[in-house]
Amino acid sequence: MSDVITSPEIEMISDLEVTEAIDAVCAQVRRNLTTFTHAAQNHSSVDNFYPAVPNDQWTAGFWPGSIWLAYEATGDIAFRAAAEVQVQSFLKRIENRIATDHHDMGFLYTPSCTAAWKLTENLDGRWAALLAADQLIERFQEKGQFLQAWGPMGEPGNYRYIIDCLMNLPLLYWASAETNNPVYREKALAHTRTTLAHSIRKDFSTYHTFFFDPETGAPAGGATKQGYRDESAWTRGQAWGISGLAYCYRYDPNPHYIATFEKLLAYYLERLPADLVPYWDLTFVDGDEPRDSSSAAVVACGLLEMANHVGINRAGEMRALARRMLGSLWRDYAVRDPKVSNGLLLHGTYSKKTPFNSCRGEGVNECVAWGDYFYFEGLTRLARSWNSYW
Ligand code: GLY
Repeated sequence: MSDVITSPEIEMISDLEVTEAIDAVCAQVRRNLTTFTHAAQNHSSVDNFYPAVPNDQWTAGFWPGSIWLAYEATGDIAFRAAAEVQVQSFLKRIENRIATDHHDMGFLYTPSCTAAWKLTENLDGRWAALLAADQLIERFQEKGQFLQAWGPMGEPGNYRYIIDCLMNLPLLYWASAETNNPVYREKALAHTRTTLAHSIRKDFSTYHTFFFDPETGAPAGGATKQGYRDESAWTRGQAWGISGLAYCYRYDPNPHYIATFEKLLAYYLERLPADLVPYWDLTFVDGDEPRDSSSAAVVACGLLEMANHVGINRAGEMRALARRMLGSLWRDYAVRDPKVSNGLLLHGTYSKKTPFNSCRGEGVNECVAWGDYFYFEGLTRLARSWNSYW
């Protein structure tokens, strides 16, 4: 393991700090209910403040996920009522297929609607999540055996999956268990096999996206959209890979997932700066490039999930490392003053434009919706035994 893990410089977050952090987060979520009960949060903040937007982005599920976590932490019915308004918006979105021409049904429907079902037996939440699972398996490409990430099905420029999609698969596993229909699970397993075969390089860095030949289904090569360049390791892609394997292991306890998780994690840890919060691409290990705090939150949650599935000694190391990461986030990245931001976690990076990538460039050094959510999920996992939404 990297020296960073045993570094005494970053202290583990204590139980008292976890309580303080959750109190701070719940207070911020409560303040935000006024603006965001009947609206969605933008994918990222603008000068640290999220604008209200319609429910049409891939990121809209994270805010209701945070509301559900706040409801669990406090038992306050005001949170539940607001989350239920969100569930209705998500039901309308999937029934009318509003901005659903992509694979992020798990990111959208797990924290919002599966959570609603699991926590409160909300039938609309269950139905919306099942409709979302139906939409997701429609994106399965037999030629290549993957869930197409973006755009109209079969479009040559979009004949690819992205590593992030591992996090969408728990929705499919859940749907199979819920309906006794194996088809969702079969697609999830096939997509995972494809991801493990093609996304991971020899050094255990990862490609963000991977293309196939639409005619033959033959692998056509890796590329980036949001990373620095095609052959670099986009930090959040690596983080989604790490946590995606941990979250899928719960449904498919394949030892290969643990072995690969460890390798991806080792690559990631070797490139962390001293405070355990990575730069936005793992090409960068020091200097002035923006950080991506959201990746640290995602990896902390992956560690806490995987700790449930490994031996006691390794589980202890994983939990200690997650506590260090969350300690760093709470002390130096968390929002403590609502005048500074209406988010939860500062210094995330959504998409940084470079001469070598194809993203638009937005949300750099800002709060990002999934960073807030996974920070809160990580704190929740430390606070008590948590029944996962995923
Ligand atoms: N899944 C897209 C992102 O992490 O930005």
